[in-house]
Amino acid sequence: MWTKEDLQKLVKDKMGDYAFIVVSNRQPYIHNFKQGKIESQRGVGGVISALDPVMQACQGSWVAYGNGEADRDVSDEQGRIQVPEGNPRYTLKRVWLTKEEEVGYYYGYSNEVLWPLSHTTFCRPIFRREDWEMYKTVNMKFAQAVMEEVGNKKAFVWIQDYHFCLLPKFLKQLAGDRVITAHFWHIPWPSYETFRICPQKQEILEGLLANDLLGFHIRYHCNNFFDVVDRELECKIDREAEAVIKGNHTTLVRSYPIGVDFEGLSRFAQSPEVTTKKNTLVQEFGLSGQKVLISLDRLDYTKGIPEKLAAMDSFLQNHPEWKKKVVFLQIGVVTRLHLPEYKNLNDKLNALVEEINWKHGVGRWKPVILARRHFSLAEVLALYRTGDVCLVSSLHDGMNLVAKEYISSRYDEEGTLILSQFTGAARELTDAIQVNPYDCDQFGEGILTALALSEDERRKRMKKMREIVANHNIFRWAGKVLSDLLKFEFKEDENKQEASP
Ligand code: G6P
Repeated sequence: MWTKEDLQKLVKDKMGDYAFIVVSNRQPYIHNFKQGKIESQRGVGGVISALDPVMQACQGSWVAYGNGEADRDVSDEQGRIQVPEGNPRYTLKRVWLTKEEEVGYYYGYSNEVLWPLSHTTFCRPIFRREDWEMYKTVNMKFAQAVMEEVGNKKAFVWIQDYHFCLLPKFLKQLAGDRVITAHFWHIPWPSYETFRICPQKQEILEGLLANDLLGFHIRYHCNNFFDVVDRELECKIDREAEAVIKGNHTTLVRSYPIGVDFEGLSRFAQSPEVTTKKNTLVQEFGLSGQKVLISLDRLDYTKGIPEKLAAMDSFLQNHPEWKKKVVFLQIGVVTRLHLPEYKNLNDKLNALVEEINWKHGVGRWKPVILARRHFSLAEVLALYRTGDVCLVSSLHDGMNLVAKEYISSRYDEEGTLILSQFTGAARELTDAIQVNPYDCDQFGEGILTALALSEDERRKRMKKMREIVANHNIFRWAGKVLSDLLKFEFKEDENKQEASP
């Protein structure tokens, strides 16, 4: 099993004199004002839960958008700060964006074009020329920020996600082969039929193909990418070598299913702190004496939250004997609220919860609780430990780390996972109860199946899934990407040898 130490050793032994830089939109630590004081908080989202432990092991610099109210007050003139607070392990370099840049690059092109385009959830992308212009500007701004970290050294730059399609190309323009780039695409890659509508498709592909390595979660997304490139660009696709050759540049395109810090989560889940939080949670939401279904999602239309409520409705309609015996606690983390699709989803959820509780509620008992607030990691683990069943219902998802975090926290080998078949995680977690979230009756029956599993069956499934999540952990994921990336360090010598007679 890969450990933090193995990864650290790999980086130490092999990185040589290369700088190591990670780039993402979302920063790992944010500083805000709370009651007049500056408070540091770990950021939300899968990318951060995945990469913070990696960076703590590897050190280096993380370049990201500084969006906290107090970020400027605690960073130096170059936007740098050492994190995490109290036990600094690496440099966070913040990039400052104007309101217009944030609107065009983040809300506009990233989340109203690339996000809906990549997820097959039937939400129509909105193409605006000015958003694309801002996307280009911000990608260049990040390229300059990365170069400030690189200086005149050689560097490995590991880019995260769909916010930075053009960054690899800009970096190569600024630094040539001195910078070796890997890019991980954390969301699905769409089919050609979907992608072809994008007016900037050529530029996006050319940007991504400036990378030395491009990673997706699953082989299926790599194949979609090959198809798209095949139909749009003049280049050679070598499926056996998993590479695209354009001009004299080769980009390896490989699948690396992301994982979580299994050991760390499993250990922390057993701590007295989490146990205390669990008791508080049970009291706060009145969960005692009931079977508890839990979910934790960013309030995003790709997560299938209305579908989950429809399944709950179907379940209670068809199995009313479960009334007063079961409660569904949905924790929602609010993001991207400035976009109409997200605002509408939020309003819709309020109405749906109200309706189901009215329809099925008995006396003081209500089947659904929707709580929108930030949960600390200890509270998240407490939530997982409280859930007899965890529901993950994405309509389309690159991987879904909630599923893997839930499994990691169940050191007691208890608990059952209901998992949408449209998540990347469904390929590995075949012992989950897999459902089609678009089919609310089948999903509703899935809830019944999960609640009715025998203890023996439940434990057997959880044990198997824990083995998989333990082995395919986050350090293995990072180790595999980095091992492939490190091979590029020797490319120049290999080429020289091949060229010599
Ligand atoms: C997805 C993306 C991440 C992003 C996360 C949170 O998982 O792949 O890059 O950090 O969503 O989204 P947000 O827009 O709130 O950063």
